[in-house]
Amino acid sequence: MRIAILPDDATIGKVAADLIEELYREKPNAVLGLATGSSPLSIYRELIERHQAGKLSFKEGKAFMLDEYVGIAADHPERYRNVIHTEIASHVDFPEGCVNGPDGNAEDLHAACAAYDQSIKDAGGVDLQILGIGSDGHIAFNEPGESLTCRTHVGVLTEQTRRDNARFFDGDIDQVPTHCVTQGLGTIMDARRLVLVAQGKGKARAIKELVEGAVSAKWPATIMQMHQDAWVLVDEEAASEL
Ligand code: GLP
Repeated sequence: MRIAILPDDATIGKVAADLIEELYREKPNAVLGLATGSSPLSIYRELIERHQAGKLSFKEGKAFMLDEYVGIAADHPERYRNVIHTEIASHVDFPEGCVNGPDGNAEDLHAACAAYDQSIKDAGGVDLQILGIGSDGHIAFNEPGESLTCRTHVGVLTEQTRRDNARFFDGDIDQVPTHCVTQGLGTIMDARRLVLVAQGKGKARAIKELVEGAVSAKWPATIMQMHQDAWVLVDEEAASEL
């Protein structure tokens, strides 16, 4: 893993966007893995700016999202599909229908998960996966204790994650869905490059475990230590326990 401790969130966004720009320069039809949460927002701001400046185009590209809540209303602003549309997809030029996400409202969720996993493979796999990290070390929605090798699946959100995410639901944990569909750690590890970003003190313990801990399902992100091309971009606060 390459670890970079950077001065601020804006620099994290720039460094990650440099990697993405380089990818699309070399491979215009690259497949980008998109993450939700607040951590990647500085990356998305950079990508939008570079796109608007004519330096970066996704017009031959494709994207796959990591995860989605189960049973959230189609028009809910916190539905991850809507978040990705608002924060990045609607501002850049991915072709129509080329930003994909797992379907948390499918009638047969298990079949939808398997089909989603297959669609990533059919697209040739993810070239660069953007990742955030939960304060409990989860990536996507792979919570502590889950399999380190699983594929896209239905998951149960921990109380900690629901508490962390309540800020997006009027601060009310009861409004946060209890289940999710998420790429598994096996699916995520298939991406050719992983770029995890984290800011702030709240992530310091998880970053310590990710960088210095043993690979363990207790801290799901530690599986990244086994990846051949993983980048971890953090600010001073997130690095404060290293
Ligand atoms: C959610 C998402 C994760 C994200 C994490 C951290 O649970 N499913 O993909 O990495 O939250 O979110 P934030 O970046 O807002 O701290």
